[in-house]
Amino acid sequence: MITIRREENRDRQSVRLIYKAAFGQPTEADLVDTLRKSCPDRLALVAEEGKEVVGHILFTPASITTDDGNKISGMGLAPVAVPPDLQGEGIGSRLVNEGLAILKSRQYPFVIVLGYPLYYPRFGFVPAERYNIRCQWPDVPSEAFMVRILDKEVMSGISGGTAYYRDEFNQAV
Ligand SMILES: CC(C)(COP(=O)(O)OP(=O)(O)OC[C@H]1O[C@@H](n2cnc3c(N)ncnc32)[C@H](O)[C@@H]1OP(=O)(O)O)[C@@H](O)C(=O)NCCC(=O)NCCS
Repeated sequence: MITIRREENRDRQSVRLIYKAAFGQPTEADLVDTLRKSCPDRLALVAEEGKEVVGHILFTPASITTDDGNKISGMGLAPVAVPPDLQGEGIGSRLVNEGLAILKSRQYPFVIVLGYPLYYPRFGFVPAERYNIRCQWPDVPSEAFMVRILDKEVMSGISGGTAYYRDEFNQAV
């Protein structure tokens, strides 16, 4: 049985191994280690089966600077990983859904993600360009940059803007 819980200090090494295996490089593992130290406002969850950590997801503060000069704070999803031999069993979906439910209960108005256009729509993400929201990195394919609206009222006032992850992500993109 898979359970989802908050990440704890003791999970650090397992989480690192999962990212290295899932991405085939240390970049994402390093990013998670960096944000663990620098970002107290993160939401980090692990999936656990028995005593084994079998997935991880991280959400960190993100913002949208609107074209008329306002700033709206939300969250950014990145990264998420499940070990290669356990992918496709629903673990990633559990992590994403649990994270979104927590963030909605904390009244964050939106979550952005830069990822697979065929994966994230099942969680309610839509292309951010539908709201005229641009990614801070201009070269990313527009369909890969998505937003999940959690508070329609707050977001209804936005007629365009640029979304930003935390600065730490600049090193990883
Ligand atoms: C992406 C990832 C976290 C999904 O976790 P998971 O536990 O395998 O996902 P689930 O079992 O909940 O969902 C499986 C679905 O994801 C889809 N999926 C997985 N990787 C995908 C990809 N690269 N592009 C599109 N869809 C993908 C599968 O096709 C499957 O679709 P289906 O339900 O229609 O059959 C996992 O595959 C992973 O760690 N991948 C490597 C790291 C990575 O790319 N992370 C995401 C960065 S944005």
